[in-house]
Amino acid sequence: MSIPLPKPDAYGSDISRRLIERIRQVLVASGGWLSFERYMHYVLYDPELGYYHNGSKKFGAEGDFVTAPELSVLFAEVLATQVAEVLTQLDDPVILEIGAGTGRLAEDLNVALRAQSVSARYWVLEPSAELRARQQAHLSASEVEIQWLEQLPTEPLQGLILANEVLDAFPTVCFIKQGGKARPLGVVWENDGFTWAPGEPEKGLSDLIAELETSLGYVLPEGFRSEISPTIPAWIQSISSTLKKGAVLTIDYGLTEREYYHPQRNQGTLLCHYRHRAHADPFLLPGLQDISAWVDFSACARAAKNAGLNVAGFTTQGQFLIHGGVAERLGRLDGVTAFRAAQALKTLVLPGEMGERFKLLLLSRGLQLDPLPGRDFRDRL
Ligand SMILES: C[S@@+](CC[C@H](N)C(=O)[O-])C[C@H]1O[C@@H](n2cnc3c(N)ncnc32)[C@H](O)[C@@H]1O
Repeated sequence: MSIPLPKPDAYGSDISRRLIERIRQVLVASGGWLSFERYMHYVLYDPELGYYHNGSKKFGAEGDFVTAPELSVLFAEVLATQVAEVLTQLDDPVILEIGAGTGRLAEDLNVALRAQSVSARYWVLEPSAELRARQQAHLSASEVEIQWLEQLPTEPLQGLILANEVLDAFPTVCFIKQGGKARPLGVVWENDGFTWAPGEPEKGLSDLIAELETSLGYVLPEGFRSEISPTIPAWIQSISSTLKKGAVLTIDYGLTEREYYHPQRNQGTLLCHYRHRAHADPFLLPGLQDISAWVDFSACARAAKNAGLNVAGFTTQGQFLIHGGVAERLGRLDGVTAFRAAQALKTLVLPGEMGERFKLLLLSRGLQLDPLPGRDFRDRL
């Protein structure tokens, strides 16, 4: 597959070349085949050369993607009402934001909460040194006080744990059904580049797919390829142990299990971004492009229930924003600000843009919460 992408500069090319060499050494040491999950881990999280650590620009015109909080302050303003509902039921609450990007959401959310006379301490857990520095630079000029954490807090907290467009970055397992069996899809080196190759069936994966097929009520067809994430349920489990009382709100592009593993969705959900071009080839420009996989929200909900959390809400971003009053907020703006916000709003709510692809899943412990604004899709999980 040949995808026309802009050429990286010399610095970027050097990073990618060195990362390719590093992964090739791992490939050789692993007998010539590497699971996709490990490949994704290296290209995103190699401590020096991985996408989230190598200092490349991710946000903005020279970056790779744009997220909802970057598009318009209206996103944070509507979110603030939901966040306030959680915080006002708690003593000395904390907002813990996982993966805070440029820090824009942290700033806008704090301002919007202050306008509602709601206060909370604000903690950020950010694995990328480049983004952490950017957040610190951005937020030092604001009145927002942030504490950056190195890891999840060891003491259980009361508050809201927020993750916007984070779970899609967790390394995922790719698989294909061949000869009636689920085989892991991995990476080999061929013709001067990485390419796909199926590996031998493994018990762990076979068990996961058997469980999935039981839940779906049908067997995935021959040739079907997709992803399954053992990391996301494990993350929900660990987040649950961190949460004494409060809520977890994850927002991401994703599907219910029935949609994710629909026989016609047979090429998986991998999505890569480089300089605002989206495509599905994870082997292009290793270390320079973002790689993500859509989130299976049914698996998230199951993991949450197993961890003793309540599934308090599930809806689409479009439904949430519209029924959360975004149009009324837009109506209070005027001039160029209103025009720009209206343009951004189209991207945020239209079904063909982020409106239906992005979903919100609200999990709670020890709280009475209304379901999220908009249609309640929990029965589809
Ligand atoms: C697509 S950006 C979204 C940023 C921000 N939440 C927003 O909406 O603008 C992904 C964020 O998640 C962080 N991230 C990536 N992998 C992560 C992981 N495994 N754990 C926690 N954060 C992660 C990135 O460093 C980045 O800040």
